[in-house]
Amino acid sequence: MRRRKEPLGAELVSRDAWKGRDVISILDFSRPELESLFAAANEFVGPPRPRKDLADYIVATAFFEPSTRTRLSFTTAALRLGAKVIDLSPDVSSILKGESLHDTTMMLEGYSDLIVMRHPSEGAALLAAELSSVPVVNGGDGSQHHPTQAMLDLFTVKRLKGRIDGLTYTVLGDNRYARSATSFLYGLTKFRPKMVYVVSPETLRPRDEVIKQLKGLGLRFEQRSDLEQVIGNTDVLYLTRIQKERFPDPNEYEKVKGSYKLTKDVLARGKSGMIVLHPLPRSTELPYDVDSAKSAAYMTQAHLGVPLRMALLLKIMGGGRA
Ligand code: NCD
Repeated sequence: MRRRKEPLGAELVSRDAWKGRDVISILDFSRPELESLFAAANEFVGPPRPRKDLADYIVATAFFEPSTRTRLSFTTAALRLGAKVIDLSPDVSSILKGESLHDTTMMLEGYSDLIVMRHPSEGAALLAAELSSVPVVNGGDGSQHHPTQAMLDLFTVKRLKGRIDGLTYTVLGDNRYARSATSFLYGLTKFRPKMVYVVSPETLRPRDEVIKQLKGLGLRFEQRSDLEQVIGNTDVLYLTRIQKERFPDPNEYEKVKGSYKLTKDVLARGKSGMIVLHPLPRSTELPYDVDSAKSAAYMTQAHLGVPLRMALLLKIMGGGRA
């Protein structure tokens, strides 16, 4: 798929607004676009049927940070659609010789038809997208954007609760550095939640610019410090681990580590029908004995990453019915 990306304006008015598009932030997508993605993803849930829609295409994964779910579910999604996948492994590539993000991107655009990139620096995916003539999908950059995770999280809510609107959400954990939490909050601005509680220890509250943006986008939310105050009203509890690796000062991490935990006792006070989501990996905030609770939905959530990313690849790269 060697064509220049269309200017954004042209894409928005065209019949299929997804084709050839970069995925940098969930804020760039409209509610109807997200809904059409979820409808397409629904078709891929269940026993896999091999497809050849993307048989002529090559997807490149370039992960400059560790990943299990995002990288492997994109790989599985591409393979299930018949595409081939090449993987840039930063620890055995010329990155070790000091090759720049610029040059690496220029190579990947020559070798593939779509690039999925994860990078520790905010703005890396946007930079790559500006350089590349093939679409770039942000697999997480820094602590703000992880758009496909947010799409997957909203898709999981839609499947398990039947709707996204009208529910009460509690986003608990590292709301300062966890890009999955920030992106989930950004995603909720596209819908009409009844209420969103943002629960975090004092030092892990969302950054001012995120708060400002959420307010500007009209999200109805309140900041709290105690889960117990809100769990009885919560329909969707979204939990994240403390992002140890993103703390500028290790002493700050030491002060806050272990400061929240979802125990079975706390869970027992939850609203009936509540679901617990977590982007994983987990640390001490989510003990293994919670896995057997009826509300534990995070394994389902992780598995839904494949159908959601199949729909996404198909919409961006074309072919098939999506
Ligand atoms: C998250 C990430 O990398 O942002 N993982 C994921 O993609 N599922 C969450 C995390 O690392 O805590």
